[in-house]
Amino acid sequence: MEKLVSNWYNKRTLPENYIFPPDARPGKLATAPSCDNIPVIDLGGDQTCIIQQILKASHEYGFFQVINHGISESLLKDTMGVFKEFFELPAEDKAAVYSEDPKKICRLFTSSGNYDWEDVHLWRDNLRHPCLPLEESMKHWPQQPSTYRELVGTCSSQVRKLALNILELISEGLGLGTGYFRDELLKNMLLFVNHYPPCSDPSLTLGVSKHCDPNLITILHQEEHVNGLQVFKDGEWICVKPLSDALVINIGYQLQIISNGKLKSAEHRAVTSSSNARTSAAFFITPSDDCIVEPAGDLINASNPQLFRSFRYKEFIMNYLTKQGKTEVVLEPFK
Ligand code: SIN
Ligand code: FE2
Repeated sequence: MEKLVSNWYNKRTLPENYIFPPDARPGKLATAPSCDNIPVIDLGGDQTCIIQQILKASHEYGFFQVINHGISESLLKDTMGVFKEFFELPAEDKAAVYSEDPKKICRLFTSSGNYDWEDVHLWRDNLRHPCLPLEESMKHWPQQPSTYRELVGTCSSQVRKLALNILELISEGLGLGTGYFRDELLKNMLLFVNHYPPCSDPSLTLGVSKHCDPNLITILHQEEHVNGLQVFKDGEWICVKPLSDALVINIGYQLQIISNGKLKSAEHRAVTSSSNARTSAAFFITPSDDCIVEPAGDLINASNPQLFRSFRYKEFIMNYLTKQGKTEVVLEPFK
């Protein structure tokens, strides 16, 4: 519990066990040079055009932002507000949710969750819990702040709807028709809330190390004004501009596999800020543990050979965790 960064960060210098080895430090790139590249797609526009933009962005960047997505800016603002309030609660209150047991349904922890075994710690605290089935999972959510369950419940339902809409557009864009993404493929939704307190030297540490998301698709909201999320593109780190009315959409490995490589899961990381705390909320749409995932048959033909093998989702995750997310070994080729 005393390990939570949000409980003690106010020291002047970064403790040594948060300093990354030189080749993994962001260095001066903690401030990415460019913040305007990731496409911002207006979901209120022409459907054919939206589908094309989504497919292009998912292929080139693995990331895009959406506006006019149907979730009100005030709900997003209030939900981010309640997350921020949660991390600002007195240590005794957060202790009720803190746990180092990965089996706990709803838990607060720090760094990667492997604090006692990892070589270097991440400058972040993380609150995570499932969002589906809503009524059942909500019973495990934090009881403080008092509006947490109501606000996060409303927001989760709306994010879920948006995720289904976007997957429908992707399905159509890939030529898979309607209804490809259903049931077991998108059974679960997990929420990770990250909190990165101000850090005395963002060039030496990271909030989240570089990785690709292992799930189907991720919908993320980041608080306005504080940069932090960076995507690796053409040998460079570019930042995803925080916009108060936008949601960030990030293609996970499962979509890369189903699309037989037409959509890409991109490496990304979170850097810290010396002047501001930052909060982000990521909703992960994931298949059920036993779901079999494989490239869609309709996308494979003589000129588009099958690139990845099929597997059970839980088998994939085990592989992802043991191979530390390294793309070239996690995405096993079809032989
Ligand atoms: C992550 O990708 O896990 C964190 C992203 C963020 O804080 O923006
Ligand atoms: Fe991620």
